[in-house]
Amino acid sequence: MRIDILTILPELLKGPLDHSIIKRARDKGLVEVVMHNIRNYSKNKHRQVDDYAFGGGAGMVMCIEPVDLLIGNLKSERHYDQIIYLTPDGEKYNQKFANYLSTLDNIIILCGHYKGVDQRIRDHLVTLEISIGDYVLTGGELAASIIADSVIRLLPGVISDETSALTDSFQDNLLAPPVYSRPAEYKGWKVPEILLSGNTAEIDKWRLEQAIEKTRKRRPDLLEG
Ligand code: ADE
Repeated sequence: MRIDILTILPELLKGPLDHSIIKRARDKGLVEVVMHNIRNYSKNKHRQVDDYAFGGGAGMVMCIEPVDLLIGNLKSERHYDQIIYLTPDGEKYNQKFANYLSTLDNIIILCGHYKGVDQRIRDHLVTLEISIGDYVLTGGELAASIIADSVIRLLPGVISDETSALTDSFQDNLLAPPVYSRPAEYKGWKVPEILLSGNTAEIDKWRLEQAIEKTRKRRPDLLEG
C-alpha cells in the first residue's frame, strides 16, 4: 500500500509515523508513506498557499492551485483509489472505515488548515471526506497520522501476532476484554482465577462475557447494530 500525505507541515507528521510498529512496517516495505509539502507547488514568491475568502469573513482559505498541481502530479504517476480530505464535517471515522482503507492500494490524504480549503478542491478533486471525531483540530496532520496508524497496523505482516488485530476492540462491535500479566498477585490485587486455570474454552467464554459486559456499560450503541 502507498499513502501520500499532502500537508503544509510535514515535520508534524514525522514523529508519529517514524517509530515502533509503523516504522518497522515502512522499513520492511509493507507500506510506503510519502509526505508532500503543498508549499512546494505554490507559484507565489512567498510560497503562500492561502488567501482571503471571497465574500469576506474571518480566516484564510487554502487555495486550489497548489493542491491541484500536486494531486495532478501524483495522479499522472499512478491510480489512486481514494483522495481523502480531513475535515471535522466529514464522515465519522471508525474501525470499519480503517478496515476498508487497508484494502486499498494507493490513497492520498489532504490535510486542511486555516478556515478550510477552497470548496472546488472538495467538489472536483477529493473523493472522500473524513472526520476523526466531533472536535476541531488546528489542522489535519494529527488526524492523518491517526488514520495512517490505524490502517497500517491492519496490513498483512505488520503485526506479528496474526490474530492480534482481529481481536481489537471494535472488530466485532465489542470492546476488548481486560488483560493481565505477571505477577498473578500484586499488593493483594489478584488476577481473575479463571485466567490461571489453563482451560482455554472457559477462558474464551470469560473473555467474551467480559467484552459484552464492558460494551453494555460503556458503549451500548455498539450492541444495537
Ligand atoms: N481537521 C480539523 N479537525 C478535524 C477532525 N476532527 N477530523 C479530521 N480533520 C480535522
